[in-house]
Amino acid sequence: MADVDDIKDGKDFGLGTPQDKQGFIIKGNANYDWGLKNRMSRIFNPKSGRTVMLAFDHGYFQGPTRGLERIDLNILPLAEHADVLMCTRGILRSVIPPTVTKPIVMRASGGNSILRELENETVAVDIEDAIRMGVCAMAAQIYVGSDYEHKSIKNIIDLIDTGQRYGIPTLAVTGVGKDMARDARYFGLATRIAAEIGAHYVKSYYVEDGFDRICAACPVPIVIAGGKKLPELEALEMAYKAIDQGAAGVDMGRNIFQADDPVAMIQAVGKIVHEMVKPAEAFELYGDLKNAA
Ligand code: R5P
Repeated sequence: MADVDDIKDGKDFGLGTPQDKQGFIIKGNANYDWGLKNRMSRIFNPKSGRTVMLAFDHGYFQGPTRGLERIDLNILPLAEHADVLMCTRGILRSVIPPTVTKPIVMRASGGNSILRELENETVAVDIEDAIRMGVCAMAAQIYVGSDYEHKSIKNIIDLIDTGQRYGIPTLAVTGVGKDMARDARYFGLATRIAAEIGAHYVKSYYVEDGFDRICAACPVPIVIAGGKKLPELEALEMAYKAIDQGAAGVDMGRNIFQADDPVAMIQAVGKIVHEMVKPAEAFELYGDLKNAA
């Protein structure tokens, strides 16, 4: 079945009919074993079924970018307001005190930099080391459509296979290479491929047109990356629209740690994700917290 000249775009995504979660709060996770379900329940709040992941793994390919110059000064004050911390093992060991008990999603791919091909990654953490550090999930990029498509998908498959053995979920992060379209067709393809190979949840970017279809067609939870820094109200609006259209949370970096007041911003994002307050209300909260600081 390789009739690639006759692939028809999906048409009926059953919008308005949510996928049956089969009695477990996390979409597509009902049939996992106890350890996997427990780790996923530490990532996704069992009451709301959603998560605010604070992503600060960017240094693994772009070095000390704005807002991440000093993780101890920039990020640690935010940790108490996040549901989950997403970082590399290097930062975890060197900067995050072991007394921080937030669930960790570990960046488990690497081997690239902004100076060369971003897509050329390898698995960068041995499962034993991830277990040693008590992580809740491992994450790697999937670069569908790039020259390194096969290699990046294989990285995810390897993480899933080893993770399954020990009850550790895998987050597949849909990466966009320099020349790739950022539209619903692309993210729909990449997120679905990630879920089909067994990723326990998937990170996508939000797109204005068709994000609800991306979420509907992905049988496991989607969290959104924040992407480039936006004005705070726009970032809150994006988070609201993503949740409203089916995302199960955010895995946000720059729009939190590069905000005027990152501590206020992460709390405002949390209000949207878990309580679905309107963006204007969340922005007001952001302003109040910022002025009170
Ligand atoms: C990017 O490769 C990293 O995985 C980031 O964690 C991800 O892009 C989310 O960060 P941001 O919200 O800054 O896009």
